[in-house]
Amino acid sequence: MTSLAAERAGVLNRLLDAEQERFRTLHPRSAAAWQEGRQHYLYGGPSHWMRRWAGGFPVYAEEAQGAHIRDIDGRDYIDFCLGDTGGMCGHAPEAVTEAALAQLKRGATMMLPTEDSLWVGAELSRRFGPKYWTLTTSATDANRAAIRISRMITGRRKVLVFSGCYHGGVEEAHVEIRDGRVGLRNMIHPNGIDHDAVSRVVEFNDVAAVEAALAQGDVACVLTEPLMTNFGMIPVDPGFTSLARPDPARRHRPYHRRDPHTVLRTGRLHSEPRARA
Ligand SMILES: Cc1ncc(COP(=O)(O)O)c(C=O)c1O
Repeated sequence: MTSLAAERAGVLNRLLDAEQERFRTLHPRSAAAWQEGRQHYLYGGPSHWMRRWAGGFPVYAEEAQGAHIRDIDGRDYIDFCLGDTGGMCGHAPEAVTEAALAQLKRGATMMLPTEDSLWVGAELSRRFGPKYWTLTTSATDANRAAIRISRMITGRRKVLVFSGCYHGGVEEAHVEIRDGRVGLRNMIHPNGIDHDAVSRVVEFNDVAAVEAALAQGDVACVLTEPLMTNFGMIPVDPGFTSLARPDPARRHRPYHRRDPHTVLRTGRLHSEPRARA
């Protein structure tokens, strides 16, 4: 690092320290909850990414209604994230809460289909088009299932993802471009996967790189989002959108898989802060 770069990094780190101190002062109960959580949670909070909150620890939620969330320090926020997919209609909408409660009272872990599932399947087809559906319990599960089906159909092994992407616990997507090659993403511990064999990674919006990656004929599917989130918020260039559409006329096209998490939460402004230098 040059001395100018080191000086700038020093200034940024001092500003960040000051902001994090301010955040701690404004959220004393959340700060205490975070310390307590570290005694029993591997990553401090229930999910691993909560440790990477920009303030140094997450705010702990008390309750949410409509577009508002209140934290345990009594602060009220307008929730532009909409609590991920569950909150697209606002938090705790009465009709949904009542329907869920009614079902919980009739049992919710029966491991059997219900007649309601028939209506849901037909309704999904009516609203979104595809004839056949399968249900999973998370975006990670849905992505894994889609990757498996794509491999089964195409007989190919690789999943094309975009550098910096986040698709939950999908190992194939835990990669980024490192020195022009597939590298494990920042701060992720290797998990016995040969990423060179199962992943291909290019920059978002780089049409030529996508074409070159697909031309090799070994990509089973492209795992992507309607716009790139979790890495700031990167909009889609016009040329890129059309490329990303599946084109049955071109045989080397892999299956195009839209991460269900983001399809359902395209309006979310979410950024996962990167680790400090
Ligand atoms: C784009 C994207 N895909 C997948 C996931 C993981 O979702 P889930 O926890 O439902 O597996 C997330 C979580 O934030 C996400 O942002």
